[in-house]
Amino acid sequence: MKKRSTFGSTFGTVAVVGGSVIGLGNIWRFPYIAGENGGAAFILIYICVALLISVPIMLTEFTIGRAAQVNSMRAYQKVSGRRRWQGIGYLGIATAFTILSFYSVIAGWGLEFIKESVIGEFMSMDSGQIKANFDAFIATGWRPILWTTLFVIATAFIVGTGVEKGIERFNKYAMPLMFLILVIMAVNSVTLSGFQEGATFLLKPDFSKVTVRTVLTAMGQSFFSLSLGMGIMVTYGSYIRKGRNMFGIAGTVTIADSCIAILSGLAIFPAVFSFGINPTSGPDLVFLTLPNIFAQMAGGQIFSVMFFVLLFAAAITSSVSLLEVVVAWVHEEFKLKRRVATAVAGAGALGLAILCCLSQMTGSSLSIGGLDLLNFFDKATSLYMIPIGGLLVVIFAGWVVSKNLMRKEMTTHGRYGVELFKLIYPLIKFVIPVIIAVLFLNELGVFK
Ligand code: PFF
Repeated sequence: MKKRSTFGSTFGTVAVVGGSVIGLGNIWRFPYIAGENGGAAFILIYICVALLISVPIMLTEFTIGRAAQVNSMRAYQKVSGRRRWQGIGYLGIATAFTILSFYSVIAGWGLEFIKESVIGEFMSMDSGQIKANFDAFIATGWRPILWTTLFVIATAFIVGTGVEKGIERFNKYAMPLMFLILVIMAVNSVTLSGFQEGATFLLKPDFSKVTVRTVLTAMGQSFFSLSLGMGIMVTYGSYIRKGRNMFGIAGTVTIADSCIAILSGLAIFPAVFSFGINPTSGPDLVFLTLPNIFAQMAGGQIFSVMFFVLLFAAAITSSVSLLEVVVAWVHEEFKLKRRVATAVAGAGALGLAILCCLSQMTGSSLSIGGLDLLNFFDKATSLYMIPIGGLLVVIFAGWVVSKNLMRKEMTTHGRYGVELFKLIYPLIKFVIPVIIAVLFLNELGVFK
């Protein structure tokens, strides 16, 4: 049998997992969600959720993947010895596929904004003109489709080249670049007049805004940001070498994820306050508010190019992981060559992404429950599919898989984290399923 691909170096492994984790979720989603949910208090809850719930789930997914050494759908069957558990794998693959479609559209907007920044298109516009310009771009239909198509082709090119030669090599360059840009932007932020106000908003907690919903929002954001609940870490776990310490990898990427989210908040909020913009302005923060800020800031054009390159790099290292989950499944289950599997999966995701673009045009009849497809897919995945995926994974690991298998694989046969396992296992088996279920039922209004 052909040897299964693995990631090469430790740095490469962390770069690839980090590449999936750090994405639009940190740079586009986290700042506005933190803004809407009370800033620093939200961040504290987010960090607690990350440590208590997300890290154990990430380790669980790695463990299932590395024990099984197959794609995420087959992994659940292999580890449990029962076919019916494949369902969790299918749900994950469907979630990854759906996210990939709308994620590519937003990344495509990022490409448009790189172009606009380079030619200085919005540098002389006021906020009304910037909004009109953005609306006109969306309304053409074909321009977002063009950028989205380019983005999906670039993603497919990297995935099609292979796990180590394509995905790992690309991430090893893209991740340090991203980090560098973010640090430059955060340092520049310190020089802005609104720095103190922005930093206070992000770092000084106000618990009066915290409700049960805030915790669910923090959990949803944490799962999305750490790429959990959809088989990504199962698939990547299957590429982690047998002797490697998975606790180290999970810990490093989780810390990096939170740091980058906070850093991007530090890069964005001082600017928001310096220019008198409302921090709770929602998903438009990046595409409407930031251009407005760059247009007024000293050296704004350079920062604008840097920011949208950062957004693009963050997006592509994540979309590669989303596509890889689908490709690993098509490649192994339908016995197609990796490149063919990539072309098939990429074409499917592009089809759905194009529908998202078309549904955003004015007067489009493509909508579900009153939402355009992009918004519908975003809500359906982050509020339902991802939390359900996360819940099923912990139930599976705690109640179906033997404790012995979990211990052996997670601790790399007793070499790493033996004491930590004793702490984490009861969380996986009892605490986390209850927390997710309660938050979820609360959202569905069961306790009202
Ligand atoms: N974690 C990525 C982010 O924060 O943008 C997005 C993402 C990647 C979500 C992979 C889900 C996923 F499966």
